[in-house]
Amino acid sequence: MVYRFSRKCYLLLSLGVLLLILSVPFFLNSLNLIQEEESDCKTCHTSIRLYHPEEADCSNCHADHSSGSPKLLLDKIPALCWNCHEENVKMESKHFPFSEGECLECHVAHGNKEDYFLAESLPNICLECHGEINELMERNFVHPPVEEDCTTCHSPHSSDFPKLLKDFISLRFYELYTPLKYQLCFQCHDRKDIFGSNSGFVKGDINLHKVHVQKRKGRTCFVCHDPHASDQGYLLRERIPFGKFWFIKLKLEEKNGQKSCLPSCHQKENYGK
Ligand code: HEC
Ligand code: HEC
Ligand code: HEC
Ligand code: HEC
Ligand code: HEC
Ligand code: HEC
Ligand code: HEC
Ligand code: HEC
Repeated sequence: MVYRFSRKCYLLLSLGVLLLILSVPFFLNSLNLIQEEESDCKTCHTSIRLYHPEEADCSNCHADHSSGSPKLLLDKIPALCWNCHEENVKMESKHFPFSEGECLECHVAHGNKEDYFLAESLPNICLECHGEINELMERNFVHPPVEEDCTTCHSPHSSDFPKLLKDFISLRFYELYTPLKYQLCFQCHDRKDIFGSNSGFVKGDINLHKVHVQKRKGRTCFVCHDPHASDQGYLLRERIPFGKFWFIKLKLEEKNGQKSCLPSCHQKENYGK
């Protein structure tokens, strides 16, 4: 019994080894074929440099020359991109070029040396289309994160918050105060500084940020500060938007170390330490 069993086993084993040996040329051949196909494209298309990683070779995006589709693409854009990338669309705000599927307005399909294969570096890529913000960049005071990288505050694709913002910030005129309403600003600016004695917006012992913001009908940061840039110091707006068509003027003056605001919200008020 024992003898017969191990003989059968021996037979099976040698059969297995034989099959394995026989399959080696096939395996090598298939590897070779793939390689040939890849280098095939490159023998003629010598100028194509692919930065997309190896998992995405020519044949993942292009059909062969007989297909006749534009640029021989296997799928239209953005469907082609979503074959491999997770389509993660947030609902509150969507960037127009993104929702229109204009991926190649910002990304280079084959990739390049820029982070995220961007057609141009940040923030220039954003300024290409946003002339209004480009003008703001000429102002006397530009908010440092704006100069550096728009994507510290904005998502380039879509967001759970209005205006493609990465965190919540109230954009209303009046707002019942809670810290959550100003999360975006408090990421970088310590609440304790803004509402404490470190702030420059004080009159003696009274913190004027507290007076204006921390109320049932508090004024939001957005009322006095422009998040991007201003010709006045401290990113103070020159014109405060009120309602759809109204603007309130705001003028910061400094005389003999005393500062004052002249808004039409109230009479001229001095402040300072
Ligand atoms: C991730 C997808 C993807 C991969 C991988 C890819 N391509 Fe492309 N390729 C595209 C897209 C999308 C376009 C169209 C670009 C446009 O319209 O601006 C394109 C355009 C081209 C063009 C037209 C000329 C040009 O540069 O616009 C050629 C030629 C080309 N690809 C060859 C190749 C070759 C060869 C490979 C492999 C080395 C390759 N592609 C890999 C997506 C890809
Ligand atoms: C024998 C040379 C040769 C080989 C091999 C070759 N191509 Fe081409 N390909 C061309 C020529 C010639 C054109 C047309 C002129 C041009 O647009 O550069 C072209 C055009 C293209 C285009 C642009 C089509 C358009 O509508 O603008 C793409 C994309 C492309 N080839 C992809 C590939 C891919 C992927 C491979 C490998 C599977 C490949 N090619 C292999 C010669 C070749
Ligand atoms: C065949 C699969 C495939 C296709 C199709 C594809 N990609 Fe990719 N892409 C990848 C892989 C894999 C990476 C490597 C990083 C990763 O895993 O996300 C990558 C990386 C990227 C990156 C850089 C990500 C980073 O973290 O730096 C961008 C941007 C990108 N792809 C955009 C596109 C766009 C736009 C398209 C459509 C034109 C596209 N991809 C089509 C597979 C693909
Ligand atoms: C307005 C410019 C813009 C458009 C349009 C755009 N992107 Fe992006 N994309 C970016 C920027 C900037 C990043 C860098 C990520 C960040 O800063 O949050 C990025 C990151 C990515 C990444 C890598 C990180 C991630 O989120 O997975 C992929 C993949 C990607 N984009 C694919 C696409 C696809 C697909 C489309 C078209 C449906 C598209 N993008 C349209 C600007 C754009
Ligand atoms: C290809 C052109 C294009 C590029 C590049 C571009 N945008 Fe836009 N963006 C638009 C258009 C079009 C709108 C919609 C304008 C409108 O509705 O008035 C828009 C709207 C916006 C909005 C307002 C969204 C809202 O919900 O009101 C923000 C914020 C924004 N873009 C930020 C950016 C940032 C940040 C970048 C760089 C990563 C960028 N954009 C790059 C075209 C572009
Ligand atoms: C410190 C955070 C921050 C940075 C950095 C930032 N933004 Fe904004 N952005 C905001 C806030 C807050 C709003 C909403 C309030 C408003 O519309 O003024 C906004 C609104 C916008 C809008 C919509 C304006 C409208 O009227 O609907 C555009 C477009 C925009 N930003 C583009 C950009 C661009 C381009 C950059 C980079 C050059 C940039 N932002 C950098 C905070 C920021
Ligand atoms: C990504 C970090 C970041 C975010 C988010 C941010 N800021 Fe700033 N902000 C800075 C830096 C850095 C400076 C310059 C250094 C400083 O004065 O603290 C600055 C400066 C300022 C100044 C001028 C201070 C001065 O002394 O001139 C004001 C006002 C301001 N930010 C308001 C805001 C408001 C309002 C928000 C929310 C819409 C905000 N910031 C969001 C980083 C940020
Ligand atoms: C009623 C108008 C007003 C409102 C509302 C307001 N600020 Fe200010 N803020 C000012 C003035 C004026 C200054 C300039 C103080 C000075 O002269 O030193 C200032 C200064 C600042 C500074 C510079 C550092 C400091 O405290 O002096 C930061 C940062 C700042 N504000 C952030 C904010 C944030 C965040 C909000 C919303 C939570 C906000 N501000 C709401 C008027 C305002």
